[in-house]
Amino acid sequence: MKKSFPNIRLRRLRNNSPIRNLVRENVLSSHDLIQPFFIIEGNNKTEKIKSMPGIHRLSIDLAIKEIKVLQKLGIQGVALFPCIQKKYKTDDGHEAFNDDGLMQRAIRSIKKAVKDIAIISDVALDPYTTHGQDGILSSNNKILNDETVDILVKQSLSHANCGVDIIAPSDMMDGRIKAIRKSLEKNKYVDTKILSYSAKYSSNYYGPFRDAVGSVKNLGKSNKDTYQMDFSNKKDAIREVEMDISEGADIIMIKPGLPYLDIVSKINDMFNVPIFIYQVSGEYAMIKTATKNNYLDEKKVVMETLVCMKRAGANAIITYYAKDALQWMK
Ligand code: PBG
Repeated sequence: MKKSFPNIRLRRLRNNSPIRNLVRENVLSSHDLIQPFFIIEGNNKTEKIKSMPGIHRLSIDLAIKEIKVLQKLGIQGVALFPCIQKKYKTDDGHEAFNDDGLMQRAIRSIKKAVKDIAIISDVALDPYTTHGQDGILSSNNKILNDETVDILVKQSLSHANCGVDIIAPSDMMDGRIKAIRKSLEKNKYVDTKILSYSAKYSSNYYGPFRDAVGSVKNLGKSNKDTYQMDFSNKKDAIREVEMDISEGADIIMIKPGLPYLDIVSKINDMFNVPIFIYQVSGEYAMIKTATKNNYLDEKKVVMETLVCMKRAGANAIITYYAKDALQWMK
């Protein structure tokens, strides 16, 4: 082997800030971030979420106010998650496609009040079911795939009908992208985009989210292992992505974020499709806790993590840190 040193000194490109800035491969911009919102009933209402310090559940009017603030900071998209009152939860979660439900009203009101923002709506049944599962259950407690897909199609159509920009099925039923796409086309919603949670792992990092939408008690000791993916697997993620692209997904989501960047990188190498990453509630809670104790520098750690997600191949990142990051970037 020929000796390259000293002809090649890699530190040459690191030795001052203008040079480092010029050769940098990945940067984070305000266009890369999506803020999740937990929506509640009522007016001028805000509730703290214990396991997610700094994040609040907001009534629609307050969410609109906040979205306008975020928009001034440069945000392009928001992801909505409804907190459904107990009285509307049922075994089959049919409130999910109520045209006058909380989510539907939220989409319509935000669309009307805020121009030029991409609204992403979560499609899954867990906020609406008494058992907290994303699908409906058979009499012997199995998640029924095809019956659930029928409801997800109705839910998606009702969101499209309210003018949502992006429908985001996070349920992990088989065949739902095909069924949703077919019915969107049939109903002339040809521009409604589908962001498929293709590789959604059965993760232990979702705890604070389930607390935020109030499905944690409903779910009890049960889990989502029969539909969300086994975190030991990679090939399974590739098959999921392959399938969802062929069924008509426009964008692919990989979730959680940080422990799954190998999946992001692999999918980015293999497919010509935009990739979003969800930095989930547990990831947020971990950084919050460590930085509250001054074990880590919050701003630096968050910005590093988000850039690493870009480096792995993310086009955009759904993160509870979106607002903070936008402010830090200013
Ligand atoms: C449910 C859904 C979950 C999240 C987004 N949509 C939780 C789950 O699958 O139980 C998690 C997001 C987060 O943890 O921040 N359809």
